[in-house]
Amino acid sequence: MASNQEVSDDQGLRRTLLVDKHAAYIKSFSRLWENPDKLEFVATEHFWMSGMYWGLSAMYLTGRLDEMDKDAIVSWVLRCQHPCGGFGGSERNDPHMLYTLSAVQILALYDKVDELDADKVASYVAGLQQPDGSFAGDAWGEIDTRFTYCALLCLSILGRTSLINMPAALDFIARCKNFDGGFGCTPGNESHAGQVFTCIGALSLADALHLVDRDLFCWWLCERQTKTGGLNGRPEKLQDVCYSWWCLSCLSILGRLHWIDRDALTRFILDCQDEEDGGISDRPDDMADIYHTFFGIAGLSLMGYPGLAPIDPTWALPVEVVERIKKRTPWPGHRLCS
Ligand code: FPP
Ligand code: ZN
Repeated sequence: MASNQEVSDDQGLRRTLLVDKHAAYIKSFSRLWENPDKLEFVATEHFWMSGMYWGLSAMYLTGRLDEMDKDAIVSWVLRCQHPCGGFGGSERNDPHMLYTLSAVQILALYDKVDELDADKVASYVAGLQQPDGSFAGDAWGEIDTRFTYCALLCLSILGRTSLINMPAALDFIARCKNFDGGFGCTPGNESHAGQVFTCIGALSLADALHLVDRDLFCWWLCERQTKTGGLNGRPEKLQDVCYSWWCLSCLSILGRLHWIDRDALTRFILDCQDEEDGGISDRPDDMADIYHTFFGIAGLSLMGYPGLAPIDPTWALPVEVVERIKKRTPWPGHRLCS
């Protein structure tokens, strides 16, 4: 179990990851639905499934997953599945690719993927692929490279990537590549660090990283670091803790993590902690939320922060969990690119 680990900055000031506070904050999020009168309950219900994945992953990385109520969480996840095989963000929400991936990731964290009818979930996911290789998020048809990554990761966890047209999926990602080496959400859209993660993650899962202009793209990524030490998602935008994950994961996948100032970024993330109630915010002194709490801790894990379990930059799951999945599913299940 991680304790409150300290790091020193250039001036010798000691800053600490407040693991106990963050664990308490995450536990309070996971009990939201016991308080249906709270504004937070109504405001966040549609994305609880992802919130639960973020919270549980942060607990795993800090060595505290066993403090969560595994049986109650697994049975809640299963109750959020729809007859089509997809999962909603809560029991009352429609199925969507985003929450289907989060549900499968939660079950992977708990080694409970076998509780699923994998063919049914995989057929929901594969059924959202479009003739041009892209993926829709749900039956309403929004197209975005986020959904390509979600589909590939979900099918990889389930060992069912052969169900989709992988060359077409890769061709769609290639069409989203821009002059700066980055990627947008659809062809012609500007590069954005969140979207580049989804494209690099998908290419990494498909063993197709040869489609990346490595040096050009990694320059764009390391230019995301601002004077504060934090990273932004696009030129001229403000730094934000979540980009510690979206950018660092790509740099890690492409072997260029050392291209940014990791000490400065570590200090920025630690400065975004709520020292009283726990949790991490997007920028110092903003309100903490479960999303930035996970991505802050995940970024620290990628940088080897002491006491944290390592996270896999492609699968967005702890390395141990990914090794377990790969042992069960022959990997890679597809080698379509020469
Ligand atoms: C920034 O969003 C992030 C993205 C666009 C990428 C989101 C990726 C997924 C949902 C795929 C699943 C991810 C994981 C880790 C399993 P934002 O709305 O914060 O962007 P903004 O900073 O421009 O507002
Ligand atoms: Zn953010």
